[in-house]
Amino acid sequence: MNSQTVLTGLLGHPVSHSLSPLMHNRAFDVLGLNIRYAAFDVEPARIGEAVASIRALGLRGVNVTIPHKVSVMAHLDEIDEEARFIGAVNTIVNENGRLIGYNTDGRGYVRSLVEETGVVLTRQSALMLGAGGAARGVAFALLASGLPKLTVANRTREKADELVRDLGQIYPQAELRAICTEEVGACTANATLLVQTTSIGMHPHTDVSPLDAKHLHEGLLVSDLIYNPLDTKLLRDAAYAGARTHRGVGMFIYQGALSFEYWTKQQAPVVEMRAVVMDALT
Ligand code: ATR
Repeated sequence: MNSQTVLTGLLGHPVSHSLSPLMHNRAFDVLGLNIRYAAFDVEPARIGEAVASIRALGLRGVNVTIPHKVSVMAHLDEIDEEARFIGAVNTIVNENGRLIGYNTDGRGYVRSLVEETGVVLTRQSALMLGAGGAARGVAFALLASGLPKLTVANRTREKADELVRDLGQIYPQAELRAICTEEVGACTANATLLVQTTSIGMHPHTDVSPLDAKHLHEGLLVSDLIYNPLDTKLLRDAAYAGARTHRGVGMFIYQGALSFEYWTKQQAPVVEMRAVVMDALT
């Protein structure tokens, strides 16, 4: 660091376990950029002050994580259309004091899915488990990339209904359906892509799955957003059933790559970013 160093970082609470500083600093080094990424632990009540300090200190931008993704929006100058639909911001870009909020989670997910599996989204019929914040971003991005058919299954049926209603307004040509979790078993036979967005199976509860293994089959590509553990019980069951699998770690890498590209206007060194993250996770 020197007096020309540009700063970026993460606003969250807690942030001490985040792999983002490692991943972004590696990426800046690879491209020889004099930019650093720090983790800032911000109490919920102080998010407004933290955003004001982006302007005051001239940070190039930040990532935003739990619990600030929604509350931060009130403090920004502009919010991109996708982030507005998702109702959450994970990336802020400082354009000469004007703070613009984006959400790279959904697009990061789709880039990971397509690049790592080669799946052709326009030919898929997807079944999504969960209708929370992550599901919203991923569903929006999948439909934006040409997915023609999506069923959203959620424990709380009303949230699935609401998500499908909102998606239908933006993608009226898509075939959309909301179901409750009990109906999932009857739907997997006709699906080609299963996208798991709930927290079920996340560390430390790694021996549970949101779906009975008997519903998995060879014709499915099973994708889990969870990346700790790298292979969830759902992914292990899916592999056993002969299905193709897609890990959640790619979404983490590509959402970061897209943030990096907003800040630097350069292509992110995804291979090196993945290497440093995989090193830390294995
Ligand atoms: P995120 O931002 O990670 O998506 P979220 O918005 O809190 O987090 O959404 C969590 C999702 O996981 C929801 O779909 C939630 O279902 P409900 O809407 O019914 O709450 C789902 N989820 C979490 N724990 C669950 C559990 N034990 N069983 C079923 N669904 C669960």
